[in-house]
Amino acid sequence: MPTTETKAIRWLIRRDLPEVLDIERRAHKLAWTEEDFLCCLRQRNSLGMVAETPSFNRNCHRIFGFMFYELHRGRLNILRLAVHPEDRRCGIGAAMVTRLKEKLSQQRRRQITFMVREDNLDGQLFLKSQGFHCNATVREHFDDWTNGYEFVFELSEPTPGQREEVSPAAFEPKTITEPDYRVVECLCGWTGKRKAWLAKPCPKCGEIPEVL
Ligand SMILES: CC(C)(COP(=O)(O)OP(=O)(O)OC[C@H]1O[C@@H](n2cnc3c(N)ncnc32)[C@H](O)[C@@H]1OP(=O)(O)O)[C@@H](O)C(=O)NCCC(=O)NCCS
Repeated sequence: MPTTETKAIRWLIRRDLPEVLDIERRAHKLAWTEEDFLCCLRQRNSLGMVAETPSFNRNCHRIFGFMFYELHRGRLNILRLAVHPEDRRCGIGAAMVTRLKEKLSQQRRRQITFMVREDNLDGQLFLKSQGFHCNATVREHFDDWTNGYEFVFELSEPTPGQREEVSPAAFEPKTITEPDYRVVECLCGWTGKRKAWLAKPCPKCGEIPEVL
């Protein structure tokens, strides 16, 4: 079982992908594929990190969890965050979020956002425990049209130059706010919504849906 002393957080490299994919498949119903992760990393503003056993011996090392996030002007947006089921409730998720919080102050950003599925109660409780609050409900945000809850963590003391970048908290349900989300349609008739650069196959037939 990993402890605070036995885990380290570092940038993701390509050879981490098999382990990341394994954790992803165990963590999410609509799991990202290898191509999705690679597309994500090709975006100028997207980054990936892993939590692992710190070891100089590559044969002994093991990845416990990972996160992918985007850099925006005033905030960091988490796209994916998951911990291997066998390593949960050991503080790994919290350690990754803490790393992002540290980056906020270093980079003059004030917020961390994360869109969580309405049916992911564990994820919501985890974020709440990390000081996030639910800022908005976004209707039919996910691929399968499940509603999303936008969770936000905010640094409490904005510097004067950052005040105007902070949008007021909006609790009313709103429609899609992310400009790079597109409706996609598959030849089998399935339609969904996703980031334009995600090459994820159709959950019904496995073909790659077209962006409408
Ligand atoms: C959500 C997730 C990343 C949490 O990772 P984790 O390493 O288990 O979280 P931590 O051990 O750091 O938990 C920190 C605190 O969050 C809360 N928490 C975490 N998981 C919880 C759960 N299933 N139910 C209730 N509270 C939970 C607890 O307060 C916990 O502290 P405690 O263990 O001392 O009680 C992990 O469960 C996961 O990978 N889930 C599947 C993927 C997913 O849902 N991703 C979206 C995340 S928002």
